[in-house]
Amino acid sequence: ARAIIFDTDPGVDDVMALAFLTRLPGVELRAITTTFGNLALEATTRNALTIAERFGLDVPVAQGAAHALQNDQPRFVPHVHGADGLGDVHLPVPRRTVDPRPAADVIIDLVRRDPGAITLVGVGPFTNLAHALHKAPEIAGLVAGVSLMGGAFGTHGHTGNVSPVAEANVAADPWAADIVLGASWPVTMIGLDVTQEVVMDEAYLAALRDQAADAGRLIWDISRFYQRFHEQTRGLRGVFAHDSLAVAHAVRPDLFTTRSGSVRAVAGGIAHGQTIQKPRGLLCAPSSWDDRPEQAVAVGVDGGAFLDLYRRVLVA
Ligand code: BDR
Ligand code: CA
Repeated sequence: ARAIIFDTDPGVDDVMALAFLTRLPGVELRAITTTFGNLALEATTRNALTIAERFGLDVPVAQGAAHALQNDQPRFVPHVHGADGLGDVHLPVPRRTVDPRPAADVIIDLVRRDPGAITLVGVGPFTNLAHALHKAPEIAGLVAGVSLMGGAFGTHGHTGNVSPVAEANVAADPWAADIVLGASWPVTMIGLDVTQEVVMDEAYLAALRDQAADAGRLIWDISRFYQRFHEQTRGLRGVFAHDSLAVAHAVRPDLFTTRSGSVRAVAGGIAHGQTIQKPRGLLCAPSSWDDRPEQAVAVGVDGGAFLDLYRRVLVA
């Protein structure tokens, strides 16, 4: 079985990704770690607890970062996910409580305990992963892989979603993203280049609602607000799959084509949150590019195969 730690800021698409992850055959969820992002940390953690309870997940839920590595005012997005982050459908207040350890410590403990076994799936700002690397740099050599929803590289004309060049998870903490991308562990960035290529349209979501029992109904309910946002801003009658694609990458990397090269995240100025990959073979001076590991950036996805897989897993 593939063991996964899910680092998240729920968020509607985060919950859709978690529903998928916990039902995927051959996958074992080891922990949910929360970060600020779509909303403040207290709200994303409460949502993680509510969903863990609803799905009957017997794994630790640990709370992580409340803000970026550097002094930066977080910009929450209630206009995307609803004031409560889950479409304002008034889910029950969780009875479960958080693990007493900080998220970074849970990540470190689990990775050390099982060298080579754990895949980190990050679908919020990458602050917890940066904290974990800072406290225990050796974990970079101990994980199986790091699949991240984040970044925008412009390969299909998809540029940013919070500025012309920046994707939300990177823009929330580009300092953390730059550290995570500079560490010697195998990162794959599942950015807007591919996540905006895959739309779960209204008919698809309605089929989940009717066929996928409890999770399908929940996804339908919480995604009404999120779909309205997509409709108002993009004219889409559906939602981008975003975070679920990072989960898909962790278990089915064959669904993606990737490009290799060192990647940096920009902090400050009008390009704050932009991600840039150095083309292979380009000699750069100064060498702030060349002394960094090559990482993978997703540039293509078999969207049809992904949508089939997601539906099959949820409906099973
Ligand atoms: C990312 O930002 C968040 O709003 C979503 O949950 C996703 O992780 C998309 O840019
Ligand atoms: Ca997210």
